[in-house]
Amino acid sequence: MLAGTRLFTILLVFIHLVMGQTDIKLLPASWENVEYLRNVDVSRKYVQERTNLRIKNIDEKPNDEYYFVLREEVFENVGLFSAKLTKVDAFLESAILPDQTFAANGKTVKVGIVKLPSPIAPGKETDIVIDLVYNCNVEPFPGHVSLGENRELLLSTNKYPFSGYHTESYSLKFSGSSSFSELEKPGSEPSSCFSENDEFNCGSYDSLDSFGSLTPIHIMFEHNLPLPRVSTLKRDVWVSHWASTAQFEEYYELVNDAAPLKSGFSRAEYMKDQYALKQNGYLQALEMALPPRSEDHYFTDLVGAVSTFKFLQGHLFLKPRYPIFGGWKYNFTIGWTNELSDFLRFDKTKDDTYLLSLPVLNGPDDTFYDEVNLSIYLPEGAEVLDVWCPLPITSTAVTTENSFFDLNNGHTKVTVDLKNLIDTVSDSEIFVSYKFSKISLYRKPLSIATSIFFALMAYFFLKQTTFMIEH
Ligand SMILES: *[C@@H]1O[C@H](CO)[C@@H](O)[C@H](O)[C@H]1NC(C)=O
Ligand SMILES: *[C@@H]1O[C@H](CO)[C@@H](O)[C@H](O)[C@H]1NC(C)=O
Repeated sequence: MLAGTRLFTILLVFIHLVMGQTDIKLLPASWENVEYLRNVDVSRKYVQERTNLRIKNIDEKPNDEYYFVLREEVFENVGLFSAKLTKVDAFLESAILPDQTFAANGKTVKVGIVKLPSPIAPGKETDIVIDLVYNCNVEPFPGHVSLGENRELLLSTNKYPFSGYHTESYSLKFSGSSSFSELEKPGSEPSSCFSENDEFNCGSYDSLDSFGSLTPIHIMFEHNLPLPRVSTLKRDVWVSHWASTAQFEEYYELVNDAAPLKSGFSRAEYMKDQYALKQNGYLQALEMALPPRSEDHYFTDLVGAVSTFKFLQGHLFLKPRYPIFGGWKYNFTIGWTNELSDFLRFDKTKDDTYLLSLPVLNGPDDTFYDEVNLSIYLPEGAEVLDVWCPLPITSTAVTTENSFFDLNNGHTKVTVDLKNLIDTVSDSEIFVSYKFSKISLYRKPLSIATSIFFALMAYFFLKQTTFMIEH
């Protein structure tokens, strides 16, 4: 809650700006990018971009806010925006303003604000790292493939920094694939890229103006893995004090964004290919990391119960009825039960008050989620005191919903909608505190204000390491 409040004070700084589109020149150009090192990692379903910055205060007064510009299409698909102080490896408060757009060099952009722990004096420098994860600007290239053929993806991005500040020295590198090449298209400059160690180095440049050139660069790379995207996840958790259980049910609409097959699907060819154990762009199995001590697992799809699943060491391995090739979809439901005590704490300081903390996701690795609708059903008569989640929430609501067993008003239902989630935030939890007594008749539905902000929660991201780009 504290982080939310603090971010709010950052947002307040912008209240004096007109909502809607504002000229970006209204933002003070207090900094210079002494060094701007951009590393784009393409190893996963989504793009992971790390920017190492050395920034210098060129203003006449101390400053503690740095603005990071994001193109609108990136903002629409952003899964993570976070900032760190390089030296101490400490996370910084940062947020993207969701409602405020700016016009910069004819483009609509959004601004991410990074707040430094203390103001930097005029003429002084500091080092920060900005991590940006998004799911856009990558597509299969040339489009269709044959079974067993190598798969290439095409990433289009801007070649130079699109920064609000003058950049003294800049470099751009790509990593995360065994083979890279640059595709020259109309509008792109002659290729300047070369492979070096495991990276694709696209050059170093000096003295670049703020919002300088919008020159695109097109990078082709080999990626023989499926590209799973969950267009919708509907996750329901039923909390029962009476049975002491938390029952989970998840409905997935999954699509594989990898290249579609050139000539349709041939089972004979597929068997041959499978026999060769070739890594390829189709999804044969899904591995879900469930909360410890889960029981009573099930797996169904449109046709009915699917028997090809296994539960091993906390992981649920699902084998869909058919391999999910590029462009194919699969809708399915899984469910399981946990002891309620795995997630519920009783608040001893207050009467009849509970704190529930549930994981936000339990889905497969290397996956992007467009939309997650999480519903938590509390016992009838429960009064929700607070709902809190560190991830970008698009809406939160507390309502009541009748089910067959309810005698009076129905279950108290907490609904949280989220978008653009990545698998690596699966350590994050949602917290619900509520009051509940057996004779509780006192119940007050409330609506919690809607807000989106891309909050940084060090605690949650420190736990995960895979996402970090080793450097
Ligand atoms: C999955 O569900 C969506 C939405 O209801 C539907 O449009 C799609 O056709 C379904 N896909 C399959 C393979 O059944
Ligand atoms: C699910 O969440 C999205 C936002 O991420 C929202 O637009 C949509 O209406 C929600 N759907 C349901 C069924 O609540």
